Amino acid sequence: MAELAPSLLAADFYNLEKQLRVLEEEQVKYLHLDIMDGHYVPNISYGPGVVSKLRDRTNFIFDVHLMVEDPAAYIDEFAKVGAEYFTFHIEAAKHSHRVIQSIHEAGMKAGVSLNPGTSLESIKYLLPDIDMILIMTVNPGFGGQKYIESMDQKIIDTRKMIDESGYDILLEVDGGVKLNRLHELKDKGVDLIVSGSDIFNENIRQQIAEYKRILD
Ligand code: DX5
Ligand code: ZN
Repeated sequence: MAELAPSLLAADFYNLEKQLRVLEEEQVKYLHLDIMDGHYVPNISYGPGVVSKLRDRTNFIFDVHLMVEDPAAYIDEFAKVGAEYFTFHIEAAKHSHRVIQSIHEAGMKAGVSLNPGTSLESIKYLLPDIDMILIMTVNPGFGGQKYIESMDQKIIDTRKMIDESGYDILLEVDGGVKLNRLHELKDKGVDLIVSGSDIFNENIRQQIAEYKRILD
């Protein structure tokens, strides 16, 4: 079984409440929150203030994906607004192990994200300390991009690395995922599947039902 984590970035912010209610009614557990600072990636999204308002009104597990230049600077703020997972880019952190320690001290689960060009070697020695690995299947910064096919092998390799390590680490895939790729991702042992533009479209309810039918 794999879980769906809809990416809020693709939501219609004018109709946000209505759209989030549909997610709740369809028993979606995770909400993927993309935080972009305009430096690490060439786009700006939203910040802890928005997340805090969502926390007051919803019970989703907040899967916060930080695409920022200095992830350590945001740990306390996201812990305060109730994030469960704090995932940062391994390429962005100067002292990745220290960042992980601080995330745990703040009471959150720690995820590391890898850009398409980043090798798995870079996180090998962090495995005992992390709770999630997020494999980017697009270059970070924008929703609605095309899935990079060569990431298939990386997903297989990551699954193998996690299993061989014996640690309890979730494998998440993010970027360009559409319905027709779900069987394959599930077979590869992905635990959490992010989807933005393919979920927030004309018929969100029907789309979630289709995703769940395949993933459950
Ligand atoms: C990309 C973000 C993704 C994105 C996914 O930088 O990290 O989470 O919102 O959106 P889709 O599914 O449209 O590629
Ligand atoms: Zn993301």
